[in-house]
Amino acid sequence: MIDFHTHILPNLDDGARTIEEAQRLLKEARIAGFNGVVFTSHYVENYYETSVKEREIWLNSFSKKVREIRNVKMYLGSEILLSKNIMKQLETAQASTINNTSYVLFELPIDEEPEYLFECIYNLMKNKVVPILAHPEKCSYVQKDPDILYELVTKGVYIQADYGSIIGENGQRAKMLMEKMLESNLVHFLGSNVHRENTIYKFIPEILEIIQEKIGKEMLNELTTKNPELALNNKRITMREPKQIEFNIKEKIKMFFSK
Ligand SMILES: [Fe+2]
Repeated sequence: MIDFHTHILPNLDDGARTIEEAQRLLKEARIAGFNGVVFTSHYVENYYETSVKEREIWLNSFSKKVREIRNVKMYLGSEILLSKNIMKQLETAQASTINNTSYVLFELPIDEEPEYLFECIYNLMKNKVVPILAHPEKCSYVQKDPDILYELVTKGVYIQADYGSIIGENGQRAKMLMEKMLESNLVHFLGSNVHRENTIYKFIPEILEIIQEKIGKEMLNELTTKNPELALNNKRITMREPKQIEFNIKEKIKMFFSK
């Protein structure tokens, strides 16, 4: 399995703070069953702005220090906060694509209505960049209007969901939404979004069981392993036929009254 969304590479964002902490996180990842991790440090305009070159230097020196952690491959990426300048950030080697491929992981603001979303996606696609939206189940804007996910996927946007959302780590709304997303073929990647030790990795075996129960072994394998491998090798990923998300009235009420 490949963990497609992590904040392990130290000192670049709000993730791991020391090399030692990052080393321990990598060990946790290995124990949880991951043999590859993508370092998707935040790229936030005017806030977290470590360039690709600097990230590569960090990755190289970190890899040398953790040689003893065998069988975990490390890949560079970014988690880019939506901005009308994403294309510029990529072209000027500020933000990284995933493993230097055409795939880009981006996130929406958690509690605000995103600006320039479709404009930005159009601009990326026009430049042959393949957008992957990070953990939309956590965004209040998407929770209020889940139809947007179907719209995005039919336009060619891939979706990454956080493992923790399915066990309620990001609230009841995110949990309910992720369940629907899985059932509706609106998830293509899974990531831990790990920042700290002793958090999400210990729940991975339990989470895998829950997800497998919902979507079956084959599709779980696509989300944890096959699709990440294709993306890391810059290969095309065939999407399963997406479906519109539907909440019945009882579920709608539950969504409305939960957090
Ligand atoms: Fe993240």
